[in-house]
Amino acid sequence: MLVLFNGYGQDDAVEERVYDYAGENHKCFKCHGHKTFHYYNDQMGQEVRERMNPYYIVDSSEFYTSNHWNFSCFDCHSYEYENFPHPNELRFEQLPACLDCHGGDDTYEDRNWEQINDEFLKSVHSTKHSIDFNCNMCHDPHTYKINARTNENIKQTIQYDNGICLSCHANINKYQLIVDFVNPNVLKTHDWLPNQALHWQNVRCIECHAEIKEDMLISHNIQPKEKAVRKCVECHSQNSLLLASLYKHQVKESRSKYGFFNAAIMNNSYIIGANRNYYLNLISLIIFGLVVVGIGIHGTIRIIKK
Ligand code: HEC
Ligand code: HEC
Ligand code: HEC
Ligand code: HEC
Ligand code: HEC
Ligand code: HEC
Ligand code: HEC
Repeated sequence: MLVLFNGYGQDDAVEERVYDYAGENHKCFKCHGHKTFHYYNDQMGQEVRERMNPYYIVDSSEFYTSNHWNFSCFDCHSYEYENFPHPNELRFEQLPACLDCHGGDDTYEDRNWEQINDEFLKSVHSTKHSIDFNCNMCHDPHTYKINARTNENIKQTIQYDNGICLSCHANINKYQLIVDFVNPNVLKTHDWLPNQALHWQNVRCIECHAEIKEDMLISHNIQPKEKAVRKCVECHSQNSLLLASLYKHQVKESRSKYGFFNAAIMNNSYIIGANRNYYLNLISLIIFGLVVVGIGIHGTIRIIKK
C-alpha cells in the first residue's frame, strides 16, 4: 500500500511511505480496529456480532503515524493470535520491552536509551511501583510518536507530553492500574499557580517535575513532589530553566542555524522576565512608561476638575 504521509502537519514534510504490513495487519485490525467485530461461530453455524473491549482497540490511523508505523503486529505478538478465539495461554505471553529492541541499537543512539532507563529507574514511579510501572505506561507501543525532537510546533509537543501524564493523573481508570487510591485532583494540587490554563498550554509537567539533565533532551527522573519547581523565577527570569528543558533542542538548533541564542524563544512566546531581547524589553518599558504617564495625566485632570 502506498500512501502520502504528512507526519507532523508540516507542508514541506510530505514524504511517501510504503506500508509493508498493511495487508497482514488488516487481519487484526478488522476486529481490533473497531468498536464491534464479527466472526463465524462454527458451533452455532452462524455469524456472530460482538462488542470489542474498548481497551483492546488499537486506532489504526494512530498506529500508522506512530514510531512503529512499519511494523507487523507479529513483530511483538505471537503468530498464534491468528486463531480466534485466541488460545488461553497467550494471556501470559512475554512481550518485548523497549530496551529488548532498542538497547545497544546505534540507529537512534542519540536518544540515550540506556540513560533513559537508568533515570526512569530512579523516578518516583519506578521506585514506588517497580513491578507495575514500566515504559509502556507512558509510551503506548502502538501509538507513541516522537515529538519534542522532531515537531517544530512547541505547543503541540507540550500538549502531547502533558497528555501522557494526564492519561493517569486525570484518569482514575488508568491510575488504578498502579494503585488502589483515587488520584489527587491536579487542578486543586496546583491552585497556587496563577492562570493555570495558560500555564498548562505553555509548560510541560516535566519542566517542574523532572530533574534537568544537561546531556539529555528528556529527563525521565520524575522527582518526589517535595522537589518540584515552585519558584516563579525559575522560569520567569533571564536564565529560565525553560532554556535547559523545553527550548533545549530549539535553542541548540537555532544557535547553529542563526547564530543567536534567542531565536527559539522569539519564535514562540514572550515569557515575562525570561526574554533577553533588547528591543522587546525597551518596548515594554516604553508601554509601562506610557501607562504611568497616562495614569498621571488622568489623576491630574481629576484633581483639577474637583
Ligand atoms: C475475530 C476477531 C479478532 C481477530 C481477527 C483478532 N482478535 Fe485479538 N482479540 C479479540 C477479542 C474479542 C479479544 C478479547 C478476548 C480474548 O482475549 O480472547 C482479543 C484479545 C487480544 C489481545 C489481548 C489478550 C490479553 O489477554 O491481553 C491481543 C494482544 C490480541 N487480541 C492480538 C491480536 C492480534 C495480533 C491479532 C491479529 C493476528 C488479533 N488479535 C486478531 C478478537 C480478535
Ligand atoms: C512494538 C511492539 C508492538 C507492536 C508492533 C504491536 N503491539 Fe500490541 N502490545 C504490545 C505491548 C508491549 C502490549 C502490552 C501493553 C501494556 O502492557 O500495556 C500490547 C498489547 C496489545 C493488546 C492488548 C491491549 C493492551 O493495550 O494491553 C492488543 C489488543 C494489541 N496489543 C494488539 C495489537 C495489534 C492489533 C497490533 C498490530 C496492528 C499490535 N498490537 C502491534 C506491543 C506491540
Ligand atoms: C520489536 C522491537 C521494538 C520494540 C519492542 C520497540 N521498538 Fe521502538 N522501534 C523499533 C524499530 C526497528 C524502530 C525503527 C523504525 C523506523 O526507523 O522506521 C523503532 C522506532 C522507535 C522510535 C523512533 C525513533 C526516532 O527517534 O525517530 C522511538 C522513539 C521508539 N521506537 C520508541 C520505543 C519505545 C518507547 C518502546 C517501548 C514502549 C519501543 N520503541 C519498543 C523497534 C522496537
Ligand atoms: C512517566 C512517563 C514516562 C515513562 C515511564 C517513560 N517515558 Fe519516555 N518520554 C516521556 C515523555 C513525556 C517524553 C517526551 C515525548 C516527546 O515529546 O517526544 C519521552 C520521550 C522518550 C524518548 C525520546 C527521547 C528523545 O531524545 O527524543 C525515548 C527514546 C523514551 N522516552 C524512551 C523511554 C523508555 C525506554 C522508557 C522506559 C525505560 C520510558 N521512556 C519511560 C515520558 C515517559
Ligand atoms: C509550575 C510548576 C509545575 C507544573 C507545570 C506542574 N506541576 Fe505538579 N506540582 C508542582 C509543585 C510545586 C507540587 C507540590 C505541591 C504541594 O506539595 O503542595 C506539585 C505536585 C504535583 C503532584 C502531587 C500532588 C499530590 O497531592 O499528590 C502531582 C501528581 C503533580 N504535581 C502532577 C503534575 C502534572 C500531571 C502536571 C502537568 C499537567 C504538573 N504536575 C505540572 C509544580 C508543577
Ligand atoms: C500509568 C499512570 C501514570 C502516568 C502515565 C504518570 N503517573 Fe505520575 N503517578 C502515578 C501514580 C499511581 C502515582 C502515585 C504513586 C504513589 O504515591 O504510590 C504517581 C505519582 C506522581 C507524583 C507524586 C510523587 C510524590 O512524591 O507523591 C508526581 C509528581 C507525578 N506522578 C508526576 C507525573 C508526571 C510529570 C507524569 C508524566 C511525565 C506522570 N506522573 C505520569 C501514575 C502515573
Ligand atoms: C515551569 C516554568 C514556569 C513557572 C515555574 C512559572 N511560570 Fe508563569 N508562565 C510560564 C510560561 C511559559 C508562561 C506563558 C508565557 C506566554 O506565553 O505569555 C507563563 C505565564 C505566566 C503569566 C501570564 C502572563 C500573561 O501573558 O498573562 C503569569 C501571570 C505567570 N506566568 C505568573 C507566574 C507565577 C506567579 C509563578 C509562580 C507561582 C509562575 N508563573 C511560575 C512559565 C512558568
